[in-house]
Amino acid sequence: MAGLKGRDLLSLADLSAGEVAELLELAFQLKAGAIHPRCEGKVLGLLFYKNSTRTRVSFSVAIAQMGGQVLDLNPNVTQVSRGEPIADTARVLSRYLDVLAIRTFAQADLQTFADYADIPVINALSDLAHPCQALADLLTVRETFGQLSGVTLTYLGDGNNVAHSLLLGCALAGVNVRVATPPDYRPDPTIVAQAQAIAGDATEVTVTTDAVAAVQGAQVLYTDVWASMGQEDEAANRVPIFQPYQINEDLLAKADSKAIVLHCLPAHRDEEITEGVLEGPQSRVWDQAENRMHAQKALLASLLGAV
Ligand code: CP
Ligand code: NVA
Repeated sequence: MAGLKGRDLLSLADLSAGEVAELLELAFQLKAGAIHPRCEGKVLGLLFYKNSTRTRVSFSVAIAQMGGQVLDLNPNVTQVSRGEPIADTARVLSRYLDVLAIRTFAQADLQTFADYADIPVINALSDLAHPCQALADLLTVRETFGQLSGVTLTYLGDGNNVAHSLLLGCALAGVNVRVATPPDYRPDPTIVAQAQAIAGDATEVTVTTDAVAAVQGAQVLYTDVWASMGQEDEAANRVPIFQPYQINEDLLAKADSKAIVLHCLPAHRDEEITEGVLEGPQSRVWDQAENRMHAQKALLASLLGAV
């Protein structure tokens, strides 16, 4: 993965199909214990403006297991929350750190960090995208079905950051992807067009409002919260609008009989997914959460030139 050394990952569109396949193969081998990349002396900074359990812990453990260290740059106790410009922060942090993972609101802020930093900048979730999540999701699909090409994944719910990265990730990996949302909550048309351009004619990229049609024949059903971080005020109003997109026993029965269910977590039980489905035999959400660590280990090792 020499080609990824020193690069940023702000969106999966930053990667080629071949690079995604190589990263997933690396993650697969890392999980199997077949390879042991080392990152001794390397320091990963975490600059998170939003809450996180999985991303924060999986990145921290990933770098530690490879011999590196993590530094938590809590925005509330650094100068960033007192208005120090991103351009200045990025240049200063580049003099201390080897790689920086940022969770923030605006994709433009991430881009500014990347423009001014000399070290790799990783999008650890923005309002627009969650590329590290989609890498782990694709790893989970690959290990379940033994391949990615030709599998059909249906995402139901809000056309949000997770949906956007799935659209791009599936298009790059040759996974047919259908996104079913309420009419006013469609994914960003620019991202949909990007995914369709990547997918070409061989891979399906569909956006619809029809949840039942979207799950027909699908091997993966996927959902996320109906109101993301920063949208808490809209949560109650969204419940009746999103109800037809809930992954419940009836909807799951309409998918392929061997379908698995994914959720990036945290989940709101009996809102976007029923308790029975989340805890049921078709759910792979705990493996999916574990795979965050393996996928990000592959990513860190590649960006740091350790593989
Ligand atoms: N799925 C995910 O990103 O979880 P966290 O918000 O806990 O990091
Ligand atoms: N769409 C969710 C994902 C959380 C991991 C959010 O942005 O809050």
